[in-house]
This record gives sequence, structure tokens and C-alpha cells, in this order.
Amino acid sequence: MAARSGKVTVVGAGFYGSTTAQRLAEYDIFETVVLTDIIEGKPEGLALDLNQSRPIEGFETTVVGATTGTDGSGYEQTADSDIVVITAGLPRKPGMSRMDLIETNAKIVRQVAENVAKFSPEAVVIVVSNPLDEMTALAANATGFPKQRVIGQAGMLDTARFTHFVAETLGVPVASVRTLTLGSHGDTMVPVPSACTVDGKPLADVLDQAKIDELVDRTRNGGAEVVALLKTGSAYYAPSAAAARMAKAVAEDSGAVMPVCTWVDGEYGISGVFLGVEAEIGAGGAKLFNEPAPTETELAGLKAAAEAVRAKQADVAEL
Ligand code: 2OP
Repeated sequence: MAARSGKVTVVGAGFYGSTTAQRLAEYDIFETVVLTDIIEGKPEGLALDLNQSRPIEGFETTVVGATTGTDGSGYEQTADSDIVVITAGLPRKPGMSRMDLIETNAKIVRQVAENVAKFSPEAVVIVVSNPLDEMTALAANATGFPKQRVIGQAGMLDTARFTHFVAETLGVPVASVRTLTLGSHGDTMVPVPSACTVDGKPLADVLDQAKIDELVDRTRNGGAEVVALLKTGSAYYAPSAAAARMAKAVAEDSGAVMPVCTWVDGEYGISGVFLGVEAEIGAGGAKLFNEPAPTETELAGLKAAAEAVRAKQADVAEL
């Protein structure tokens, strides 16, 4: 067992935040996982509960709960975190789009980001609050951190949903399926069929186009489908798995290639926008590498997504 090191903070102890904290603690690679919330006692209670699971699950990482105030009180317990995952904000209700949350969540994420910058100036920030691409841009702006140190979680989740749907449809193990989605975490999500394979075979060889389109559509609406079933709250098992993997890649400086929301400036012929693309994730955050060549249709979709999120990301500066 490698030595445990570092401190990761999860802001927001709702289902998304608390399951992310649980996964991070169970990895047993961090010295400390801090879980915060504005609801008094909730993060402390969840931390106590998680710590009591340590003998059973067999991890030594300690979990600290901290109630925080909008004035920054409580943030001292998060001080000098290496990684901060921002889950704060409201989830969708049935019938809502992620964009319906923009005004409310912008205020929350801005205030959190400012406190993160003050208390953990060297942290890599992973944003999961919705609308994702806009909240990532806002957090980058509000922290003033170098852009590669602020990453949004969406592509991992959308890709996982797509992979699950393909595996379920074909009755094959998820491990034999590779899919990829880029673009925004929303209407302009861009599936990349040219990068999708099943047992190494192109997806188009094992599924007809109508079926692929149906699964892409279900992926694009993957979050809304869960929201409609739950009626209160939104998905958290797959989202927290995705966010925790990103944090692990940062902690281990693994350079794992993941679809994430990151600053794109020049790559794919797209300039100056936070957008879902593949990047290497490591200690410094996200690093773009020699981008794979998507087909012309996929590239057109990516450019359209860039323009759609660019307009919204400009709006959040005012919120
Ligand atoms: C989802 O797609 C939470 O946006 C997240 O479920």
C-alpha cells in the first residue's frame, strides 16, 4: 500500500458531494478528505459516519466535516487542499434543464470559488455544479487560477452513460466497450462515433445507425432520465464516480486521458472557451495533448458546441 498523502476537499455534502467524499476516502490514497456544507452539522455528521466505516472498509484516510458560512467561516479546515471538488449548488427538478440553474448556482459557485482561492491557492479545482461548462468558466474566473488548474466533470459521466447503454444493448461487458463524447454537458454534447469501439470493432459495425442515434439521444438525456425517475434530486452514483476518478488522476499525477471540460485555445481550431475535450489529467490539472482527428461532422459538432457555450460563458461573468 502506497503512503497516503495530500488533502482533498469536497464542497457540498448533498448526495453528489457525500458519495464523492466516500469514494475518495475508500481509495485510501489521501491523508485527509474534507467534506463541507452550509447546513450546520451535516458535513460533521457524514464525516463521523464515514470514519466509522473505516474498520469495515479498511481505509485509513480520515474524513473531516466542516460547516461553512458564506463569509468564509469554516474554510480554514479546508486550508491548503491539493484538490477541491465543487459540488455546491442546486440540482435539477423534473422538467428543468441544467441551464435553468444558471443564476442560482452562479452565485453559489462564485462565493465558493473565492473562498477556495483564498484558502487553497495551489489547489486543482474540479467543478461538477451545473450548468457544468458555464460553472467551470465561472470558477476559473472567480479563483483567478491558471486555467488548466480548473477542470469540469462531464465528459467522463456522459461517456460512461454511453458505454453502459451500448454494453446493455449488445449484452457485452462494459469493459469491452469504448465510447467518447465531447462538447458540452447538455444539448450540444458531441458523441464521437469514430472513437467508439466494441471489442476493438467500430461501433458502426455492430449497431445500425438508427440504434446508435437512439443511444446517443438517451446519453444526451441521461441526467434528465434519472431526475425524472427520482423526482427529487439528480444522479450521483455515476457522477461521483467520474469526479472521484478525476481527483485520483490529479493526486497520482497519472496523466490518464479523460474527456473533461477544460480550456481550449487553439486546439481543434477553437479558441478561448471551456469545452469538453480529451485531456491528460495530472498534478497540474488538465493538459491538452495532440488532439485526435475527429471526422468532419464531429468537428462541426464540436465547433457548434464551442459557440453555444462561449455565449453562455460570457453571460456568467455578469452573474
Ligand atoms: C447529470 O448529468 C448531475 O449533470 C449531472 O446527472
